[in-house]
Amino acid sequence: MNSQDFPILGQQIHGHRLAYLDNAATTQKPQQVIDSISYAYSHFNANIHRATHTLATIATEHHEHARQTVAGFINARNAKEIVFTKGTTDAINTAAFTIGETLSEGDEVIVSAMEHHSNLVPWQMLCQRKKLKLRVAPLKDDLTLDTAQLYKLFNSRTKVLSIAHVSNVLGIANPIEKIVKEAHKNNIIVLIDAAQSIPHLPVDVQKIDCDFLAFSAHKIYGPTGIGVLYGKQEILEQLPPYQGGGEMINHVSFENTTYNTLPYKFEAGTPDFIGSYAFGKALEYVENIGMENIAEHERNLCRLVERQLKEKFNNIKIYAEGIEKSGVISFNILRNDGSLIHPYDIAMLLDQQGVAVRSGHHCAEPLINLLGVVGTVRVSFGLYNEENDINQLIAALSKSVDILS
Ligand code: ALA
Repeated sequence: MNSQDFPILGQQIHGHRLAYLDNAATTQKPQQVIDSISYAYSHFNANIHRATHTLATIATEHHEHARQTVAGFINARNAKEIVFTKGTTDAINTAAFTIGETLSEGDEVIVSAMEHHSNLVPWQMLCQRKKLKLRVAPLKDDLTLDTAQLYKLFNSRTKVLSIAHVSNVLGIANPIEKIVKEAHKNNIIVLIDAAQSIPHLPVDVQKIDCDFLAFSAHKIYGPTGIGVLYGKQEILEQLPPYQGGGEMINHVSFENTTYNTLPYKFEAGTPDFIGSYAFGKALEYVENIGMENIAEHERNLCRLVERQLKEKFNNIKIYAEGIEKSGVISFNILRNDGSLIHPYDIAMLLDQQGVAVRSGHHCAEPLINLLGVVGTVRVSFGLYNEENDINQLIAALSKSVDILS
């Protein structure tokens, strides 16, 4: 699917065709996005929302147009609900801080056992700061979320549930619409970490009915350093700012400061207006292909790779085996004596054969500890991956396992 639009994929690595299968860490960029950064710096680089000169006006219009594009992409009610951040981590830190200011000692926050560090550590820090209780919803034996246990954690002190849409290790999706409905019956604010769903699945915030949603541009073919915190307008209006500085203010005196309207109240400092322009171009790019088409393509690749891994390797452990995956699959391979082939060794030998995968704890150390291993090998797909990438992976993996067995 459209791999010719991605110049980086045309190169050789260690004399081999590149099979880039580390898309959960970051996606490659189409020429249109790469060009848009050069275009922006060449044509309208000027600080936004501050000056009245022509370049500043054009830059401001592009930035706000990108916000509209993001709002349309996730079906937000309006663009005021789109706060630009540095990425998912910054978005969740923003939410945790500002929601946290409204919570009291003894209140409870829930995360799940499959969260990556970005959706765990900010809440841990908040709980320490405000003396709240952090509770963790467990997984079932098949590694899906135990929703019955999750709902049992809900009580009158539960104020926030922050949960991944798709696990960055397992690739499986949580039933977030049902979870949000149950949480709302208990007046719990729900944040959805969409870092790993946004590139793989259509995401509609009105359908999900989440209160907050976070994601990064670089995981959906856009630039690094920019992301989004979506928040329902009525909730964002009630919350205090996160950081202070320019842009987030209305009037400032030595005695007092009044804050700007949404979404600027949460956007202190000069925003990444070049990044937002390129981000908008990335979203237009995927919209042209269609998120449903991308989702179907990647589900098929996951089914195919899972089937081939099981067929070709006797001693393989696929995590969440047999459960539908969105773009991500993790596994380990054992030697005949039952010892684990270290995932780093596999990843290094794959790299020598042009195959880029991630190995290790994938910034989700508690989940990897639950799996009882040092890490996994993770293969993750993007829209440009095809069957030949899987064939190259399987051939390279066979060779690597032969060497390491
Ligand atoms: N969270 C990113 C990953 O899963 C970095 O690789």
